[in-house]
Amino acid sequence: MKIAILGLGYVGITAAACLASQGHEVIGVDPNQTKVNAILDGRSPISEPGVEDLIAQAQASGSLTATTAMTRDVASCELVIVCVGTPSAVDGSHSMTHIAEVSRQLAELVRANPATRLTVAYRSTIRPGSMEELIQPILESVLSDVKSQIELVYYPEFLRESSAVKDFFAPPKIVVGTADGQASAVIDELNKGLDAPVFYVKYRESEITKFVDNTFHAVKTVFANEVGRLCVQLGIDASEVHKIFVSDTKLNISANYLRPGGAFGGSCLPKDVRAFQHISRTSGGNTFMIDSLIASNEAHKSFLFEYATRNLEHGSRVLLLGIAFKDQSDDLRESPNVDLARMLITAGYQLSIFDPHVEPQNLMGQNLGVLSNSPFIRQLLVDRKSAEDTEWSLVIDTRGTIGNYSITAARIVDINRLA
Ligand SMILES: NC(=O)c1ccc[n+]([C@@H]2O[C@H](COP(=O)([O-])OP(=O)(O)OC[C@H]3O[C@@H](n4cnc5c(N)ncnc54)[C@H](O)[C@@H]3O)[C@@H](O)[C@H]2O)c1
Repeated sequence: MKIAILGLGYVGITAAACLASQGHEVIGVDPNQTKVNAILDGRSPISEPGVEDLIAQAQASGSLTATTAMTRDVASCELVIVCVGTPSAVDGSHSMTHIAEVSRQLAELVRANPATRLTVAYRSTIRPGSMEELIQPILESVLSDVKSQIELVYYPEFLRESSAVKDFFAPPKIVVGTADGQASAVIDELNKGLDAPVFYVKYRESEITKFVDNTFHAVKTVFANEVGRLCVQLGIDASEVHKIFVSDTKLNISANYLRPGGAFGGSCLPKDVRAFQHISRTSGGNTFMIDSLIASNEAHKSFLFEYATRNLEHGSRVLLLGIAFKDQSDDLRESPNVDLARMLITAGYQLSIFDPHVEPQNLMGQNLGVLSNSPFIRQLLVDRKSAEDTEWSLVIDTRGTIGNYSITAARIVDINRLA
């Protein structure tokens, strides 16, 4: 395939070197003359294991060239990969200057060469909405019929510096974003032979992927360091703690607790997080992330209330399916569903509660305290027959178990799963 790479930074140079080594005919474009000269001399402008050798081989075989200008040669490519930088702007957003500029240059090149048919894949990290609200309008401002000349794809890059070549050939996943969420034949052809799960999604889902990944990596690092810091301050061996923590691939290093849905609650998580925050406070931990967990969880409860009751008329009949903190349990302690029930009552809805596992007469210990602090639970609990015989305006399913019952409602919202 004849491929142009726009932007010869860490991502673009790695892509150029790796694609040329696969036998593609690659043209690298970057306004930086020093970088272009290095490539033309068969050297790598960046220090990245394996890249220098691949560039030298590609130069020798004639599969890689570089230029400072968007030449006509780019218009004759089948695929253009955009890897220009998106550095931080002063307000923390990504500066989109280079993206806007390269898009305009590309559009002008296509206008000057009307026979051009290109797949243009953006790999730079860009805010969700950029493809539709920035890049497409720039192309449309120059070209009268973008679709007939350009197939626009967002195709995030997951390589890590220092293992970029290895990552390029063995990515953790391939994400292809298109206007309709369908595959791109050109990108599929490019990835033939790569062993990685492929996701075809619309632009916005593909654009947010990299933010989610990088933020999660930051969360993991900060969490590890906050725990490590606390261990050091408490005279605990952080390496033993780390070993134990990562050995648990069922609950800790796994997909568990990562699906967006209900807030956390129950008898353990809120209590122990609060106590860990206290330990940190009293030992000078400055664990800002751990300290934010309860506040964030409370914000999520408010969000779920708003999300479930959007456009619901005051006074509507609402059934809360599940009041205990999880399914198959009668434990009401710090159940986020009790908080939700309270919010629904306060907002003036006619609330009923159905939970097949909660029998007030069987509750003991601290759960009796919950019942006395929240007497509405006893008053509003209905049995299965009433739940099934009533026409509800809204059912809020906190479990994802509504399919087990014949409950009828104008609207059902499953807050157990936002994904
Ligand atoms: N570095 C990484 O590990 C990594 C990994 C995945 C994704 N990303 C994302 O990929 C993008 C590129 O990252 P990078 O680290 O390679 O950036 P970089 O700053 O190293 O390189 C960007 C290059 O783009 C060039 N450029 C600017 N305007 C141009 C134009 N109009 N035409 C052609 N070239 C132009 C610059 O001269 C520069 O050489 C960023 O959005 C980044 O967030 C980076």
